[in-house]
Amino acid sequence: MNALKTPFFPVHGVIRSIIELAADNRLFEIQLQEPNGLPRCRPGQFVQLWIPGVGEAPISVCSGKVGASMELCVRRAGRVTSALFQMQEGDWLGLRGPYGNGFPVELFEGKDLVLIAGGLGVAPIRSLWQYLLDYRQKFGRLILVYGMRHSIDLLFRAEFQVLLRRRDLDVYIAAEDVVGPQLPTVSFQLGRVTDMIKLAQITPGFQAAVCGPPVMYKYVVQELRAKGMPDSNIWLSLERHMKCGIGKCGHCYVGGQFTCRAGPVFRLNDLQFLPEAIECA
Ligand SMILES: Cc1cc2nc3c(=O)[nH]c(=O)nc-3n(C[C@H](O)[C@H](O)[C@H](O)COP(=O)(O)OP(=O)(O)OC[C@H]3O[C@@H](n4cnc5c(N)ncnc54)[C@H](O)[C@@H]3O)c2cc1C
Ligand code: FES
Repeated sequence: MNALKTPFFPVHGVIRSIIELAADNRLFEIQLQEPNGLPRCRPGQFVQLWIPGVGEAPISVCSGKVGASMELCVRRAGRVTSALFQMQEGDWLGLRGPYGNGFPVELFEGKDLVLIAGGLGVAPIRSLWQYLLDYRQKFGRLILVYGMRHSIDLLFRAEFQVLLRRRDLDVYIAAEDVVGPQLPTVSFQLGRVTDMIKLAQITPGFQAAVCGPPVMYKYVVQELRAKGMPDSNIWLSLERHMKCGIGKCGHCYVGGQFTCRAGPVFRLNDLQFLPEAIECA
């Protein structure tokens, strides 16, 4: 295991491949140049991506395994991500981390799980499903629910074609708008994530891992509660404005906690003490 020299010291990485997932969304495979790469990473953690001369942005680790390389799914938003989209295979960048707590995979062992992703929230959820499928025998029933506004925004299309054929995983994909005759080569249902939760065979004993746009959490939590699930079984990954990633700058401070350290994954009943965190807590 490689301990970073200082908390701010980035590991050198080289872009090995760039895959276009949808308009303005790309998957970057980064080859880590330090002999041991980054310290061990758990699903749901994030790294600080550094583009020399531009700045840093927090990005979720999107691959279930991190060794000599890792994958990041990035949407072009502002300065750092736009600079990344100008880069080519073979260019170098920096990574700090991994940071945050990630999903409690040890606690999930032996339990039934529903993973719920909305939009770009699929990035950290992908690291979780890849991990769970790598250790499939340790977990009970697995349900994956993924929703988006337009079907053309589906990320990881090829991977979903494979996942949909698995018998040990139930996959529900919903789009509010299904367009283009040739595009949906995976089967979409018309609707929202919450419609899929209604359809899925989720019982109160399930654990739920959720990541999506802020507006989604309230409605997802309502549906999970309606299924009889206690708040202690619901885990939400929250995005907050972050700068340092290590509890120093105060940018992510909410309700007495630094989201970069205490989160980004929170158990819903802990959020009762963070009323600003999400509307439904
Ligand atoms: C824990 C965590 C995990 C994350 N994981 C991911 C991930 O896996 N993938 C991902 O893509 N993102 C992820 N994000 C979000 C990402 O960090 C932000 O989008 C980040 O701000 C991008 O940095 P940037 O410099 O490109 O954008 P910034 O320059 O910081 O811009 C951020 C926003 O400001 C607006 N903005 C910026 N410049 C302008 C302008 N000139 N005019 C109008 N509006 C403007 C844009 O709408 C943009 O959305 C994550 C965030 C957190 C906290
Ligand atoms: S990002 Fe600086 S304190 Fe959390």
